Amino acid sequence: MIALRINGQSHELDASLDMPLLWVLRDRLGLTGTKFGCGVALCGACTVHVDGAPRRACVTPVRAAIGREITTVEGIGATPVGQQVQRAWLAIEVVQCGYCQSGQIMSATALLAKISAPTDDEIDEGMSGNICRCGTYPRIRKAIKLAAKSGGDGQEEK
Ligand code: FES
Ligand code: FES
Repeated sequence: MIALRINGQSHELDASLDMPLLWVLRDRLGLTGTKFGCGVALCGACTVHVDGAPRRACVTPVRAAIGREITTVEGIGATPVGQQVQRAWLAIEVVQCGYCQSGQIMSATALLAKISAPTDDEIDEGMSGNICRCGTYPRIRKAIKLAAKSGGDGQEEK
């Protein structure tokens, strides 16, 4: 049995230690907010946090998650920065088709947790592994700046 901590809750399941964390989250635990895009760490759709750092769940074996705190998009709103990011995403209306957006939110939250007021270059660097086929990049950048500025209410500007 494998024991995992996900979004503050304990889970036990029987799975191969080499199974990608993404499979465990989606297929075994029903946490389908984390998306499968490329499967080879190129698109960022599967981004989760492992001990607060962004990780591509499609190439992270579940063994690497044992004993760590895993956070998915389902749990990110429980963190102060995650809540700030979600509010800014709504205020700016970032989402188009939505497929990439849970990964974008996870990377943006990790970026803001590390750098509270990132520059354009720091945003580009922090978000460079997250692809959006709908081209929402300008709104993502705006939402990150709003989240940084708003300090929690996400309502300062559109
Ligand atoms: S599905 Fe993991 S990076 Fe694309
Ligand atoms: S919103 Fe459609 S892929 Fe990003």
